[in-house]
Amino acid sequence: MVKTIELVDGVVKMLDQTRLPREVVYVDCKDYQMVARGIKDLWIRGAPAIGIAASMGIAIGAREVRADSFDEFMNGLEPVFRTLLATRPTAVNIQWAVDRTRKLLDERKDRPIDELKTFLIEESLRVLEQDIEINKTIGKWGSQFIKDGDTIITHCNAGSLATGGYGTATGPIRAAVEQGKKIQVYADETRPVLQGCRLTSWELMQDNIPVTLITDNTAGAILYNGEINLAIVVTDLTVANGDVANKIGTYPLAVLCRENGVPFYVAAPLSSIDFSIPTGDLIPIEERGPEEVTHVFGCHIAPEGVKVRNIAFDVTPARYVTGIITEKGVFRPEDLHRLNEPGVDLEAIMLKAE
Ligand code: MRU
Repeated sequence: MVKTIELVDGVVKMLDQTRLPREVVYVDCKDYQMVARGIKDLWIRGAPAIGIAASMGIAIGAREVRADSFDEFMNGLEPVFRTLLATRPTAVNIQWAVDRTRKLLDERKDRPIDELKTFLIEESLRVLEQDIEINKTIGKWGSQFIKDGDTIITHCNAGSLATGGYGTATGPIRAAVEQGKKIQVYADETRPVLQGCRLTSWELMQDNIPVTLITDNTAGAILYNGEINLAIVVTDLTVANGDVANKIGTYPLAVLCRENGVPFYVAAPLSSIDFSIPTGDLIPIEERGPEEVTHVFGCHIAPEGVKVRNIAFDVTPARYVTGIITEKGVFRPEDLHRLNEPGVDLEAIMLKAE
């Protein structure tokens, strides 16, 4: 399985995903500003992976902070937090990494500053390890809905490349393969950045998982023909009522699945769920520059000067979602908010395969 990101001797090494699959190149980020650039320019992308990158960026940013007191240290970290938070607005994992850092540091405010700096490095490595474990657990829960012989459609890239490893949407797929089920995957190419084409199909081929690449506008025909048994996508931010923000094109895929009676599952690590946001209308949606639409690999394909909208994410209303696969089990979107209730009997509300 390909390694997306690591932190070695104070340097964040990230696989530059903009060059895949033509070149496998790791970029050395020696300061937090370069980590932030890597997130913004999509060298690293996918919600969990950018959460890990943010944790590592904070850790190497903290090394540079000169402080004699805890308050000075926290003040010195503010520009690091701000720079990382400004990179990508929709994926909640950067905010998650910042909030988690603040909380963990606050719990250790009486410790020496040098010890806190070492702690942040170790903590970012733990975030990476935990992410892989979470994905394996999501894989185990989600694989119950995949039967031997099934064909699964997915959108964008939610594999190893988008996470610390194993993948969120590919978690159930990998687990099903490990269980000996013979399955196939259809990968939407995912215009304009082509994560499905360049990344998902590449990484599944690396691991010998049968994959067929389709253009985004082919999904309808394939679903109508009855060739797909289920869809599994992932999320950059899921909110309390079960509305799901994910890569642009997820919403039309969900509507097509509903129209054709195909179950639509969303793999969502708890770090990507924000229970404080009541509905999907309140999710900030990233819009990116026009070049991703007007150019393909540096080649201008649109008329010079044409007006462009490049909306990076859409929101799929909860009513189109069959189940949300978390590391705590699979839940109907309308039950999702109950995960936040103290003492709730999760077993009683869990969705199980027939
Ligand atoms: O713009 P990207 O490539 O970061 O968008 C990625 C997606 O939309 C993924 O589906 C999502 O982040 C989940 S990654 C496990």
